[in-house]
Amino acid sequence: PDSAVLGTDGEMRVAGVPMTTVAARFGTPAYVLDEEGFRRKCREYRAALPGVEVCYAGKALLTRAVAAWVAQEGLSLDVCSAGELAVARSVDFPADRLVLHGNAKTTEDLKAALDYPVGRIVVDSADEIRRLGLLAHDQRVLLRVTPGVDGHTHQAINTGVEDQKFGFSLASGAAADAVGQILAQPGLRLVGLHCHVGSQITRVGLLEEATRRMIGLLAAVRDRHGVTLSQLNVGGGHAVRYLPGDDGFDLAGFAHRLSGALAYECERHRLPVPRLTIEPGRALVARAGLTLYRVVTVKHVPGVRTFVAVDGGMSDNPRPALYGARYTIDLIGRPRLAAARPVTVVGRHCEAGDVLARDVPLPGDVQAGDLLAVACTGAYHHSLASTYNLVGRPPLVAVADGEARLLVRRETDEDLLARDTGL
Ligand code: LLP
Repeated sequence: PDSAVLGTDGEMRVAGVPMTTVAARFGTPAYVLDEEGFRRKCREYRAALPGVEVCYAGKALLTRAVAAWVAQEGLSLDVCSAGELAVARSVDFPADRLVLHGNAKTTEDLKAALDYPVGRIVVDSADEIRRLGLLAHDQRVLLRVTPGVDGHTHQAINTGVEDQKFGFSLASGAAADAVGQILAQPGLRLVGLHCHVGSQITRVGLLEEATRRMIGLLAAVRDRHGVTLSQLNVGGGHAVRYLPGDDGFDLAGFAHRLSGALAYECERHRLPVPRLTIEPGRALVARAGLTLYRVVTVKHVPGVRTFVAVDGGMSDNPRPALYGARYTIDLIGRPRLAAARPVTVVGRHCEAGDVLARDVPLPGDVQAGDLLAVACTGAYHHSLASTYNLVGRPPLVAVADGEARLLVRRETDEDLLARDTGL
């Protein structure tokens, strides 16, 4: 986390808590989350974008505590399944600040949302509009639109282009047609439009361009259907730095260009300025998290490379395998005596692709029993974890004011067996 301090004795402290203590108390691997680091980002976003609704994308990391922090910090919350909604519900998250997403919401998801009732549902297909129309009475909805803006990010998370599964195409006119379909449903109240260009976006100009196009669509909707929609959600996707040299996201620049584009385009189209929503997930939580691992074995393959194998791997962090993600790794908990040299940190899973970081520098004397900290694992790690090879998922430990507390306990073999109903 941004607040991590590495001492000369090798100890790493986050929020005043020594990571060796966390490892000893909760075991490894363990996810650690800096509560104040997350809350600080929430406040930073709200302060940088006055008047803009900041809606945390819970898919990045959602537990009951995180949902409560989001509520306390005055943010809204984007959920994308009945499961995420159940977490929000368990802390009585304010309904009017909840948004439900998903390209293939099941009838169970929709019923759970109507039952809460969730403030807004972002509809994503003609079939969903029909199904929701039959179930709902006065449900506020937004329409998910594909703005046709390439996010210049990994293909798996590039959602603004035509050839991907989300939304209604702006360019083909499908979005404007879908507006008509929603307006014809008495149970639905269309309040606005939504788009999401993609994730890990570094260029604010792309989000500005999407915003311009969406305001053009608001004008087209007014001209064609005679309705002026009051909300515009321009999605999330703000990049974070995983490595020191990575491009980050210029939040101040984004705020400036967003408000400029909004004022200019609304004036040009003679539209009232809609209420803006943004939906960052990663940017709020990624850097508040780290993962602790214990080295299990070190293997030198002569003339090839040194493999440092840890007690976790692709089950707690599939991001290198999925997106080619890269990380920095520190040896912690003891003084570093030897010079650093490149090693490849691998996991314990039964495939060669189970690599956490290729060619990262670690002290030459790294050995079994050492503690490693992988930085920037707050977003899409706990939430993306699996039980591959029947390895139980790690605990999630919050640190704040010199104290550590368990938010989610480690998954045990009994947990794993409990779902296996037998012979
Ligand atoms: N809004 C919508 C509609 C989304 O689909 C997403 C992310 C977000 C907001 C938040 O995006 P963020 O600000 O966190 O980038 N598992 C991938 C990321 C998947 C993103 C899915 N949608 C990863 O680990 O990189």
